Amino acid sequence: MQPAYYEDFSEIIKKIWSMLDDAITNRSSQFRTPTFICGDQLDFDGRIIVLRKSDQKNNLLQFHSDIRSDKIEKLKKNSKAAMLFYDKEEKIQVRLKVDCTINHENDVAKDSWSKTQHISRKCYLVDNGPGSETEIPTSGLKPELDNFDYTKEQSEEGYRNFTVIQCEVKFIEWLYLAAKGHRRARFNLEDNKNTWLIP
Ligand SMILES: Cc1cc2nc3c(=O)[nH]c(=O)nc-3n(C[C@H](O)[C@H](O)[C@H](O)COP(=O)(O)O)c2cc1C
Repeated sequence: MQPAYYEDFSEIIKKIWSMLDDAITNRSSQFRTPTFICGDQLDFDGRIIVLRKSDQKNNLLQFHSDIRSDKIEKLKKNSKAAMLFYDKEEKIQVRLKVDCTINHENDVAKDSWSKTQHISRKCYLVDNGPGSETEIPTSGLKPELDNFDYTKEQSEEGYRNFTVIQCEVKFIEWLYLAAKGHRRARFNLEDNKNTWLIP
């Protein structure tokens, strides 16, 4: 028997957001670590990120990064980006076109920072930003930081590097692999137009 979302636009959208919502808290969800792709026509690339917030009401997804990361400069020049998800068990691929907002030292960043765990703050304590060249192979952290030997107070230093990237979803493309026949659909969230596509 085919699932309810096999040929039903509203069931597909329901399924997609339920997978995105689940990924926020479920560490084993395959939707938790999508590829985020940004850049311009001559220079674009993808990287894995961790999904931190999913908000269907506002068509919004969120992840965290370091303000010194290369992708920040790219997003400042071109806020349009893409996100790519695949769940092997569900046989569902989701491709998103998004428009990004960079949040740094504002209310959104403050709120997310207050919810970060002590161990995650380590990433934002590196002296030189991600992507900086180095003479030796290193995490970029002082040994005591590598060993999680820092107080909550010391971890607050990381806040100045902490960034929340908000991604407003504009288009969703869904592909479902099924023995009975694959199904593919596109959702334009700007004009609410849904379209079936040949897989
Ligand atoms: C499992 C996993 C999770 C990651 N999560 C994030 C993340 O949430 N945010 C982030 O900026 N980088 C994350 N990274 C690192 C990026 O993939 C990338 O290496 C880093 O952001 C530097 O690349 P960029 O500055 O060119 O984007 C993660 C990598 C892996 C393997």
